[in-house]
Amino acid sequence: MGKRANRMHEKEPSMTSPLTSSPPWKSLAQHYDAIKNVHLREMFADDPARGEAMTLDAVGLYLDYSKNRATAETMGLLVDLAKSANLSDRIEAMFTGEKINLTEGRSVLHTALRTPKGKSVLVDGVDVIPEVHAVLDKMSAFCDRVRSGQWKGHTGKRIRNIVNVGIGGSDLGPVMAYESLRHFSDRQLTFRFISNVDATDFAEATVDLDPSETLFIVASKTFTTIETMTNAATARQWLVDGLGGDQTAIPKHFVALSTNAEKVAEFGIDTDNMFEFWDWVGGRYSMESAIGLSTMLAIGPQGFREMLDGFHEMDQHFRNAPLDQNLPVLMGMLSIWYSNFFGCETTAVLPYEQYLKRFPAYLQQLTMESNGKYVTTDGGQVDYATGMIYWGEPGTNGQHSFYQLIHQGTRLIPCDFIAFGKSLNPIGDHQDILIANVLAQSEALAFGKTADEVKAEGTQDWLVPHRVFQGNRPSNTILADQMSPTMLGKLVALYEHIVFVQSVVWNIDAFDQWGVELGKVLAKNIIPELDPKSASELDHDSSTNALIRRYRSMR
Ligand code: F6P
Repeated sequence: MGKRANRMHEKEPSMTSPLTSSPPWKSLAQHYDAIKNVHLREMFADDPARGEAMTLDAVGLYLDYSKNRATAETMGLLVDLAKSANLSDRIEAMFTGEKINLTEGRSVLHTALRTPKGKSVLVDGVDVIPEVHAVLDKMSAFCDRVRSGQWKGHTGKRIRNIVNVGIGGSDLGPVMAYESLRHFSDRQLTFRFISNVDATDFAEATVDLDPSETLFIVASKTFTTIETMTNAATARQWLVDGLGGDQTAIPKHFVALSTNAEKVAEFGIDTDNMFEFWDWVGGRYSMESAIGLSTMLAIGPQGFREMLDGFHEMDQHFRNAPLDQNLPVLMGMLSIWYSNFFGCETTAVLPYEQYLKRFPAYLQQLTMESNGKYVTTDGGQVDYATGMIYWGEPGTNGQHSFYQLIHQGTRLIPCDFIAFGKSLNPIGDHQDILIANVLAQSEALAFGKTADEVKAEGTQDWLVPHRVFQGNRPSNTILADQMSPTMLGKLVALYEHIVFVQSVVWNIDAFDQWGVELGKVLAKNIIPELDPKSASELDHDSSTNALIRRYRSMR
């Protein structure tokens, strides 16, 4: 318990933290010793109603958490731990605009982005809800003009291609939302997303596009990110070259999504064509801000508002439901149970819905950039693991790839299965086969197959151990009606709040990301050194120096 934490730290903290010395933590540790070897087969046998009791039906999501290595007592102790971390107060602090992003001195108000008109949320005494809706209205008017063909490109042609240029939160949310809601998108428009500074990303995304019909959305909260600014400059050149060298074409083909009007103007984009958001929106929490312009262009303003409604419904649930009947709290606390007591390192998120194919990739930034931290809010060091690794692929593809390890490997990997009752493409018996598979996977993981069962099938003795499934591998199953903009909002908000629950218990700031800074600074230093004609002395370690010399010789 807890001993796997801090492997990376040079110095172990000398004292135990308030968390690991708290009574609820200690009770959980004792409880863990008592139930760590209890099999899910036994838990289900002891309590035949478990499969119905350990469920929660809220905001249109049915969560079955009965196939977890947990009992009613475990859940009670986990809720006690959440209470001792003052979770309810922290939730209120977030929703009411307290500056809970301590290291950046900022409020954390992605929830304000989906708050309906007429409510108020104050930041430094100013109600931000009217501003939020003013930007949404501006986005809606713009989207209506583009989607109707009223907004024309420089040569008078209508826009047919939308290219979002951004990275991290300014890319992953938009791509994921576009893929998730493709069914609801305007099929007359082509959407592309350029993020990587590798020129191949730009080249392949634009290879078949006509500049006169292409609109670039430059999405960057800071408008200083080197990847995005490099791609945006290349896009500007591509467009101007494609339109006969006419610089005056830019305003009709470039819009910006940013908090930094000065840099937007410097780049040459008219700030009238800038859609604003605010420093209280974190990059990885921004897909429903102006950063969602590509999503709104795809599904239309009405669809976008439905998505916001879904976010808001989950927000209300998170804020108001009792902790023991609260979806993000239950899922967040179960992940702490696995992370800090079972020593699990990862969680697999496995959507049985093709439209959610980019959801796990989106969650990687949301979860790991938020909670990948060993420093506590008061500057100390944790003595427990933080930042569960989230990963996954859509089912059923994953089954034919990495599920072997989840079933019979040496690691315990809790899984979140996400499935829907109805397909948006109901063809033949595909949906029944899909759903049979997700149900079969969680059943196989939990209950496995014993040696006796394998033998009873007539398996030769030597082959029996290979064909045994130990089972006792935990999972959640979320079953909901059908993918839709509203549903996507609910799912994203669910995981945002799971991350928040984890961060509150772990006492870390989920909203900064200092760990990405060093690499950025070092890369800036190295860029000029890569020039073979560079006279500058290389002053790195011997490995980096040798690699730079090698690269120079290749240019
Ligand atoms: O480098 C990390 C990061 O700051 C992310 O948090 C952010 O989503 C991404 O870069 C992009 O930042 P920006 O929107 O300012 O270009």
